[in-house]
Amino acid sequence: MEQKKGVGSGVSKAVFPVGGLGTRFLPATKAIPKEMLPVVDKPLIQYAVEEAYAAGIRQMIFVTGRHKRAIGDHFDVAFELEYELERGHKTELLALVHAIKPDDMDCVFVRQPRPQGLGHAVLCAESVVGKEPFAVLLADDLMLGREQRSGGPTILQQMVRAYEAHPGTVLAVQDVPRQDTRRYGVVDVHGVNETLAEVFGMVEKPVPEVAPSTLAVAGRYILTPAVFDSIRRQPRGAGGEIQLTDGIAALIGTEKVYAFRYDGVRYDCGSKEGFLEATIDLALANPALSAALRAHMLKALG
Ligand code: G1P
Repeated sequence: MEQKKGVGSGVSKAVFPVGGLGTRFLPATKAIPKEMLPVVDKPLIQYAVEEAYAAGIRQMIFVTGRHKRAIGDHFDVAFELEYELERGHKTELLALVHAIKPDDMDCVFVRQPRPQGLGHAVLCAESVVGKEPFAVLLADDLMLGREQRSGGPTILQQMVRAYEAHPGTVLAVQDVPRQDTRRYGVVDVHGVNETLAEVFGMVEKPVPEVAPSTLAVAGRYILTPAVFDSIRRQPRGAGGEIQLTDGIAALIGTEKVYAFRYDGVRYDCGSKEGFLEATIDLALANPALSAALRAHMLKALG
């Protein structure tokens, strides 16, 4: 049977590792998955799924854990709610609810029995991904293409284009202050000023003194199926976890790995600062909210 493909690209599947405990956001994340925290009016996971959908991806694979039921419910039919909205002729709200999962979008849920690292989460999706290139999106990195609001490409769309021109592993990267390298996967590249540069080495969460550069991996990846075997061969890495970075690093030399400098912004919504920045920026960009927010901020800042 022919594989269901995305619209016009070789990347038709996206993996969303959502099994983490979200400890950086306690107490909010005690009973609610961190990916369900809303920025303005939409949960983080929906921003990521919309980004993948815009890139032509139609199969969304969620690697979940216990206490993550809300994510499955969010992308399912909400029968009572839809019935009531329909009965009340609330057509706009109904359209909003239906748009969460377009008819041509397929959602698959895979369980990660216990969090053992990002590499392990990606490995849990192997049987659903099969032998195809695929995207990985970390929903707590909320990423917006620079021109996205006026119809420009999302970050993953930019990456799919780069992949089409240069098939291989494509990692979204951004420059970070050297003292922050310990929070990221950091790449060693030649041609640091280019949008797409070949990666020669990669380290997970290096201390600033040994970081190969200040180019850090953000939460968007296009990976090849070879990464699965590669992850499996790795010993536990940084933090005692099975690291995706180590699996990708071990591919260098056998497959091309590229660092892609995306055109846009990233909000680290796993941190309170990043989450607030995203909330403020998105509210200011929202015509229904910006005037009131501006007025309030001026008052609050005295
Ligand atoms: C993960 C990856 C790391 C990457 C980061 C981007 O780390 O392991 O390589 O730079 O996401 O957000 P985490 O933030 O899950 O610790």
